[in-house]
Amino acid sequence: MSSELLRLSGVRKQFGAHVVLNDVGFRVAPGEIVGLVGPNGSGKTTTINVISGLLQADAGRVEFLGRDINRLPMFKRARAGINRTFQVPKVFRDMTALENVEVAARTQRLSDSQVQDILRDIDLLAVAGRVAGSLTVNQQKLLDLGRALATRPKLLLVDEIGAGLNPAELGVIAELLLKLARSGIALIVVEHLLDFLNRITERVIVLGAGRMLFEGPLQAASRDPEVVAAFIGATTEP
Ligand SMILES: Nc1ncnc2c1ncn2[C@@H]1O[C@H](COP(=O)(O)OP(=O)(O)OP(=O)(O)O)[C@@H](O)[C@H]1O
Ligand SMILES: [Mg+2]
Repeated sequence: MSSELLRLSGVRKQFGAHVVLNDVGFRVAPGEIVGLVGPNGSGKTTTINVISGLLQADAGRVEFLGRDINRLPMFKRARAGINRTFQVPKVFRDMTALENVEVAARTQRLSDSQVQDILRDIDLLAVAGRVAGSLTVNQQKLLDLGRALATRPKLLLVDEIGAGLNPAELGVIAELLLKLARSGIALIVVEHLLDFLNRITERVIVLGAGRMLFEGPLQAASRDPEVVAAFIGATTEP
């Protein structure tokens, strides 16, 4: 068995007549951080959704550890080791930060000290007793990440965690994601902040209107004419 964790091939998703993902295919290995970039509406979140199980691909294959998971509901994919954060963080607003992590941790029967470790990693130990609804949006994003981590994922999908964070906060997140990858977790990181991605990825996938335009190092992507055209919304035609 190769070290492949996730494999998408020929993935297609459409809403009515609107084709949102068209022939998307790539692989992710354990311990790897893959960036997923593209203009607004290019299909990044939809890609995360078809991997996490919030949506089912209409065609193509989504394989995890060699098994086609496209028909599995989200909770079974979570149990298999796939979890994600949301572009708009999803936390239980009336529960404390600690309780939010504890609820997710139940599936894995984590100990109290493991829960504390997660809260420390996401830098929320000091506010663990506060209800999540009273935390800042940035703290809620970190808590959403902590909730996902408490399920002990093998593959973690991170949807725009960096937006709105200051450089110090971004640094904390970058170090944390690198640490998770070193521990063997694979990550797909959707992000518009290219400096941040450059710091944590060796490979990015660029989507443009639901198609894969590029796969490779971020530095090379920025020299690719198709990628540049997609980002500036222009064509090369006169
Ligand atoms: N549930 C849905 N029903 C209908 N259309 C949808 C649905 N979800 C997404 N879309 C459309 O699919 C396209 C891709 O959306 P998606 O959210 O994947 O883009 P994105 O790359 O994540 O964009 P952003 O950078 O703005 O988050 C958009 O045109 C969007 O309007
Ligand atoms: Mg999105």
